Amino acid sequence: MTSSPAPIRLRIQRASAGSPAREEEFEVPPEGAASLLDALRWIRIHRDDTLAFRYACINANACKECMMRLDGKVVYACLAKLQPGAVHTVAPLPNKPLVRDLITEIAPPKERLFAGDDEEEE
Ligand code: FES
Repeated sequence: MTSSPAPIRLRIQRASAGSPAREEEFEVPPEGAASLLDALRWIRIHRDDTLAFRYACINANACKECMMRLDGKVVYACLAKLQPGAVHTVAPLPNKPLVRDLITEIAPPKERLFAGDDEEEE
């Protein structure tokens, strides 16, 4: 009898803008985690549909919107590989305004949409 590979454990930093960050841990089966992006999508489908992260091209590495930190290093989530049995930490980009969970504001201020009642910054 063969044993199945150990699950991957992701400790994910979560927060909304202006609220204190907390860490939540999720276990992902290796078959659901060909990349970090695949693991996050697996979590959103199977464990927590409120987990926020950004991507647009799904593993084509064309949109460049899936940047985040994996074990302290900035990576593209769609290219980053995970180790079965390992515990990985996942966090949003440093030095960028946080939107929620793993999403940071990446558009330059002049290119951002704003709500009609917001004051436009100069
Ligand atoms: S999902 Fe588009 S570059 Fe990673």
